[in-house]
Amino acid sequence: MEIKRIAVLGAGLMGHGICQVAAQNGGYEVNLRDIEQRFLDNGMAMIKRSLQKFQSKGKLAEGQAAEILNRIHPMLDLKETVSDADLIVEAVPENVELKTATFREVDRFAPTHAIIASNTSSISITELGSATNRPEKVCGMHFFNPPQLMKLVEVVKGTKSSDETIQTVLDVAHKIGKETVLVKKDCPGFIVNRILVPALNEAAALYWEGIADRDDIDKAIKLGLNWPMGPLMLTDYIGADTVLAITDVLMKGIDPKFHPSPGLKQMVKARLLGRKTGQGYYDWTQK
Ligand SMILES: NC(=O)c1ccc[n+]([C@@H]2O[C@H](COP(=O)([O-])OP(=O)(O)OC[C@H]3O[C@@H](n4cnc5c(N)ncnc54)[C@H](O)[C@@H]3O)[C@@H](O)[C@H]2O)c1
Repeated sequence: MEIKRIAVLGAGLMGHGICQVAAQNGGYEVNLRDIEQRFLDNGMAMIKRSLQKFQSKGKLAEGQAAEILNRIHPMLDLKETVSDADLIVEAVPENVELKTATFREVDRFAPTHAIIASNTSSISITELGSATNRPEKVCGMHFFNPPQLMKLVEVVKGTKSSDETIQTVLDVAHKIGKETVLVKKDCPGFIVNRILVPALNEAAALYWEGIADRDDIDKAIKLGLNWPMGPLMLTDYIGADTVLAITDVLMKGIDPKFHPSPGLKQMVKARLLGRKTGQGYYDWTQK
């Protein structure tokens, strides 16, 4: 199926980036929706700042930023946003009730041929599909932060997603310059978070048990596994609360073996969440 217009729901951290890459790399017309004007304004400001950075690095020619911005249509009304879209990418907050309600509403207003994809990190694609009358046209399209720079998209097949839906979403991801992997079964954490988050949890355990100092844990993984940063610093960037929430999803949805370490729980209890609270494993107040 040919996709001409994409609707992105949510102009936050992920939504604004997804909107930008679709307009910038794929040449798509993109309707961008948020629930309040100030959130839309904030999303558009982030897009403009990012385009300026591309321009100053010589990666975008003069005048191209304006053309990209012309293809982006900020909106508040959901019906208007989705009624002419061929693909809807949902990037609203990670809350199952909110996402289910959003899928139900989108299903009412979107054309019958339209595909509805979710950028969720942990919510069941199959469950979101069941909130619609078109589960075969629902799948996961999981970008990484920041979507403008991160190469990967995990395309996730729900139990009822059709092969045509998956192929169309893979094609769109390629057209916007991404590499893809196919997650053949809808399973918590998909591929990346199922491997990453237990590793972060284990780093928290090593630290808590006093097996090694913070800097040695991070140095070991940077130099031993060639990660660009160590797991404790990465936890500070993601937020210990988010790492704990995903660990919980893996434990409940897959196997008790994924249980959170006491060390990770303690960081959250102490509000040592990382960058967002100014203190985690590292001190961020000066940075
Ligand atoms: N932050 C990450 O690193 C990351 C990475 C991959 C996937 N995700 C997933 O992406 C999704 C969005 O996360 P985020 O970090 O961008 O969150 P965010 O809070 O930065 O942005 C969400 C935006 O959605 C808006 N919103 C709320 N209800 C809405 C509605 N009904 N319609 C349209 N917009 C609505 C909010 O006002 C907000 O601007 C989540 O499912 C998250 O799990 C996040």
